Amino acid sequence: MSVPFKENSIFFAPMEGMTDDIYRNVITTLYPEWDYVSTDFLRIPTVGNYPDSHIIKHYGNEVYSTPKTRKKTIYQILTSSNAYTEHHIQRIQALGFEWLDINLGCPSKTVCKNMGGSYLLSDLPELKSIIDTIRSNFKGTFTAKIRVGYKDDLNFERVLKLLEDCGVDAITIHARTRDELYKGVAKWQYIKEAVKIVNIPIIGNGDIWSVKDINDYYDYTNCHSVMIARGALKTPWLAREYKAGNQFEDHEMRINEMARYYSFFYNEIERLSDLSEQSQNKRLKSISRYIFDPLENAAVKKKAFLLSKTKDELFEVIKSL
Ligand SMILES: Cc1cc2nc3c(=O)[nH]c(=O)nc-3n(C[C@H](O)[C@H](O)[C@H](O)COP(=O)(O)O)c2cc1C
Repeated sequence: MSVPFKENSIFFAPMEGMTDDIYRNVITTLYPEWDYVSTDFLRIPTVGNYPDSHIIKHYGNEVYSTPKTRKKTIYQILTSSNAYTEHHIQRIQALGFEWLDINLGCPSKTVCKNMGGSYLLSDLPELKSIIDTIRSNFKGTFTAKIRVGYKDDLNFERVLKLLEDCGVDAITIHARTRDELYKGVAKWQYIKEAVKIVNIPIIGNGDIWSVKDINDYYDYTNCHSVMIARGALKTPWLAREYKAGNQFEDHEMRINEMARYYSFFYNEIERLSDLSEQSQNKRLKSISRYIFDPLENAAVKKKAFLLSKTKDELFEVIKSL
């Protein structure tokens, strides 16, 4: 199957706790230059079955009822050998989700102890069995998001070939092992190697923070497309800058864009959720780890924002940037 995305596509990465329905709606509305956004993972259960309503709720009622957004979204699962994978894949297929991604990079101790996420990069027979199950039950686009290995990179080439041979349509690689977590800088040379090892598209991921990084990344790795996580939280309008060819942004532009982004997000939380003001503020703060960094006196400004107790205080900080 050929992939639905063009070369040089730019993906907004899955991030648990961030990329929920409401947040993705903000991104696809304000910054449609992101070619695709990804949901965080739906954990396939080892006991019982999810009703369809649970699957739709996790992936987002708003997305589900808006065909254009639904098509721009990648739906991620996390599973393990003892989970009810086949049943849930059949449900996801029947519900009309068109692009499924398996999370093979999650480093969480609990997930790995239950033989899911990045653990599977160390257990190729189990990995093959799970990938075969998904591929034979899912007709849409099926991608895998991996790290370069579990404890080390010794299986890297074997994993890539296994995924390709089992009919995975494209592979996203976060260029660190599971044991490296987020240490150091992701090693872009793994992406360059992967491009030579398999014939399916490689989506490069890990430590892409700016337009310059995206350009350098393509030049160096020759990969098909890129996916950005923390850099997308730092500059949610990064895809727009990349497509416009802007290498640099000035202070004025960042603060204006921040005001627009926060106001829109707040309005969407108010419109689509029944969270208390305190929880709404918490949600706003949760996406704010990197976005202040390029500003002068970033630490002081971020601290004032994070210590704000009310909506008015939060927006006072943003106004005073
Ligand atoms: C807060 C947070 C949550 C994440 N949740 C997920 C997730 O649900 N699924 C997934 O495949 N990766 C998840 N990741 C990993 C990112 O998608 C990405 O692979 C990683 O951060 C490296 O990319 P970056 O250097 O652009 O941040 C998460 C990362 C962060 C920072």
